[in-house]
Amino acid sequence: MTESDRNITIDTLFDAAASVRERAHAPYSRFRVGAAVIDETGALHTGCNVENAAYPEGVCAEAAAIAAMVASGGRRIRAIAVIGSGAAMTTPCGGCRQRIREFADADTRIHLHDPATDSRHSLSLEELLPLAFGPANLKDDIR
Ligand code: THU
Repeated sequence: MTESDRNITIDTLFDAAASVRERAHAPYSRFRVGAAVIDETGALHTGCNVENAAYPEGVCAEAAAIAAMVASGGRRIRAIAVIGSGAAMTTPCGGCRQRIREFADADTRIHLHDPATDSRHSLSLEELLPLAFGPANLKDDIR
C-alpha cells in the first residue's frame, strides 16, 4: 500500500504534520516539530515534540507519532512526514531514525520540507539510516 491509497496523499500528510506542530510544547528550544504517519491500514497518526524542564526527558515529534500509531493498533509505518521550524530542512534526529526503523522497511518514504525553497524531499529509510540495526538482527535463526 502506498500513501496515496485510501485517499491519504502526501499533501494530507504534510497538512497533518503542520497542524499538529502547532500543538508542540517547546518552551525551551522554541523549535516546534510535527510528524504524521500512515500505518499499514491507511490510518493517520500524528505527534509533536513535547519538551520538559528536565531537558533529556523531552520527546521528539516522530517518537510521539509512532507511539500514537502503536497505541491505536498500527504496527507498520507506510510513510511519514516531518515538518520542523527554522530556515533549514528538519531531518529526523538519529534516535528517531532508529525509532522509524523499528516499524518501517528500507524503502519506506520519509517526506521532509525545505523551507528555504518551499520544496519537499522524499528519502528512503535506507538513505537516512544505512546499514541499520533492526528487529531482524535479533531473530533466533540468525543468532
Ligand atoms: N526534534 C524533533 O521533534 N524531531 C527531530 O527529529 C529533531 C528534533 C525536537 C526535539 C526538541 O524538542 C527540539 O526539536 C529541538 O531539538
